[in-house]
Amino acid sequence: MKLLQYYFILFQITTACGFLCLQATRNAEYIVPRNDDHDRELVRQQLGYVPTNWVCVSARTQAGDPIAIQTYPLQGGSMRRQAKAKMSDIGTPFPTLFWFTNPLIGTAIAELERQGYIQRIQESLNKSEKEELLACHEKYASMRWESLSSDHRQKLIEDPSLQRLRTMLQCSGVAGTMLSGSANMDSIPSIKCLHAHYAQFRSCRELGNPVGRRVHHWLQEDFPDLVL
Ligand SMILES: *[C@@H]1O[C@H](CO)[C@@H](O)[C@H](O)[C@H]1NC(C)=O
Repeated sequence: MKLLQYYFILFQITTACGFLCLQATRNAEYIVPRNDDHDRELVRQQLGYVPTNWVCVSARTQAGDPIAIQTYPLQGGSMRRQAKAKMSDIGTPFPTLFWFTNPLIGTAIAELERQGYIQRIQESLNKSEKEELLACHEKYASMRWESLSSDHRQKLIEDPSLQRLRTMLQCSGVAGTMLSGSANMDSIPSIKCLHAHYAQFRSCRELGNPVGRRVHHWLQEDFPDLVL
């Protein structure tokens, strides 16, 4: 019963955030893997598998448990998705640069989402926080683009058939939010997923994602026993 509940919650989290790659994958090539077997084992326990495009643990709780990992922007996802992408010979795009992995914190954040906190944050951000949030989206996109190998970047720039993929990897922010050139403060992109913002907040503390900051505050208030 407990296990079922856990999987159900995990399923909710992953679908809510648009992660479509619950399938474990085998025999895939790793790019820029780090030799950290212990971390990989911790993440395997959290997700049930180690993502093929693993790079490193990017955020941890005070107890040292992973909160999020950094992934490579290509060659992630299930074998099915990867096989489909073979045609383009560059692999499947994986826009989630900081991938939330922690089931306990994840459940708590899902609870906040259920209670309507996305809407609440959306409506209460002031002007300077909106500016901060836009900067966070832009930073997310540029970090993702810069994390590609120069070979992959060049291919994406030069091959016209990869234009859409390039746009996705170069111009989408946190939680796949598309960034338009003329960002308007009155219509900031909707906050799609608190997990994704919290993953960035914890992975890049110096950026101070204002959505992640509020999530952190509410987690402390509403879940005092949770180790963050
Ligand atoms: C906006 O909100 C933040 C956090 O609540 C606060 O620290 C900041 O002073 C506010 N800025 C303005 C201009 O009201």
